[in-house]
Amino acid sequence: MSSPRFRPYEEDVDVQSPNRNLAPLGAEVDQEGQLWVGGCRLADLADHYGTPLYVLDETTLRAGCQAYCRALVRHYPGKSLVLYASKAHSSLAMAALMASEGLGLDAVSAGELLTALGGGMDPRNMVLHGNNKSRDELRLALEHGVTVVLDNWLELDLLERLCGQQGQRARLLIRFTPGIECHTHEYIRTGHLDSKFGFDLEELDTVLQRLATASWADVAGLHAHIGSQIFELQPHEDLAAVMVKALARARALGHHPKDLNVGGGLGVRYVDSDDPPAIAAWVQTVSAAVVAACRQQQQPLPRLLCEPGRSLVATAGLTLYQVGSRKEIPGVRTYVAVDGGMSDNPRPITYQSRYTACLPQRCRDAATDTVTVAGKHCESGDVLLHHIPLPPVASGDLLAVLATGAYNASMGSNYNRIPRPAAVLVQGGQAQLVQRRETHQDLLRWDILPEHLCQPGAVPIR
Ligand code: LLP
Repeated sequence: MSSPRFRPYEEDVDVQSPNRNLAPLGAEVDQEGQLWVGGCRLADLADHYGTPLYVLDETTLRAGCQAYCRALVRHYPGKSLVLYASKAHSSLAMAALMASEGLGLDAVSAGELLTALGGGMDPRNMVLHGNNKSRDELRLALEHGVTVVLDNWLELDLLERLCGQQGQRARLLIRFTPGIECHTHEYIRTGHLDSKFGFDLEELDTVLQRLATASWADVAGLHAHIGSQIFELQPHEDLAAVMVKALARARALGHHPKDLNVGGGLGVRYVDSDDPPAIAAWVQTVSAAVVAACRQQQQPLPRLLCEPGRSLVATAGLTLYQVGSRKEIPGVRTYVAVDGGMSDNPRPITYQSRYTACLPQRCRDAATDTVTVAGKHCESGDVLLHHIPLPPVASGDLLAVLATGAYNASMGSNYNRIPRPAAVLVQGGQAQLVQRRETHQDLLRWDILPEHLCQPGAVPIR
């Protein structure tokens, strides 16, 4: 169970590290108990844009970017670059915002790559990931000078052919599995990892040897990513040591790798009891481990790259819903249903993820009701929050679910043919629509009705 506390009475707000707060930095509660974010009253946003609505706080997004960049300057003596893992939330506006903060970007598909380019991201600061990149995706990356994170042998062959045909060179980071496996709050080290991504650590030498004679390939560095929503610092410290050793191996085999990409993974607060490390602490730990390992192994300092996704965007976002029906099952539970659910936030049904919610028009009222917040999809498991304390909830109330900025919109679906919500970016009392609400017409764009099936009574959708 989680009860939200908001400014001004959330006293321990971490302005340096937004991943440690439940609410966006720009959240405030007024005298009447109304919640505002970025100078916009949430009730006004709901009136104007409708619900469900993703609200993104620009101040929080920028604070997260600056926290990473500042900490790297402070704690890492070499060059560095933060690549935003755009799988967490991919949109033109987000790519543009990240670019404006000097970040690069990690894409895992042509779609994410084109979105980033459309947002003005510099392709030289981008990497393309993926365990099964298509020829077209690889061609696109090469065309734009995007670094390819080499994942497997098939891809190596494909790249060799593509570069040969086009007389191009590919800038590569080699992805390997470092034998460090994280299960959110604990981790294990193994020789081999059961992962679909990257080369096994044992294979790395063979890959490096093959690439040593490949005139088309520039082995620019190495990459590893150990997991997501991680609260421990030790696995990242261990990762740095493993990676520096691999970097030394690459140099010994004739390469000149400059980049060390340690992936993402820093966790965020979804419920009050979550206690992730601060961004600066994460950066400091990784930096110190890389510096120590380089010193110990007498290696020059690489350019340090990291790929945070969730910790940059999760707590900048919230989702506004309107409450509809209420069903009381005496002695069991009370359901209140909202006008969205698993299609705009598939994380609870997929990972049993927990969230925190509040009534943004009654933030100062005592939480005397206990409800289970269900979505509107035709699926019993479509429940966003279980058994949470709230002020008495009635039909027509607005409900805000916090920390939905990461892996919500990007993992959303149209299950039950429910259109995707709109998204607004708020700051300084201004709300800017960054993703318009999907319409029913949008949904039918993909459908083709074969002529021989046409029924006389078919109703065109407007
Ligand atoms: N780099 C690579 C290669 C990754 O695979 C990921 C996440 C990241 C960076 C960013 O990790 P972050 O900083 O966001 O933890 N859908 C899941 C999360 C999947 C993460 C996949 N990879 C969720 O909703 O929890």
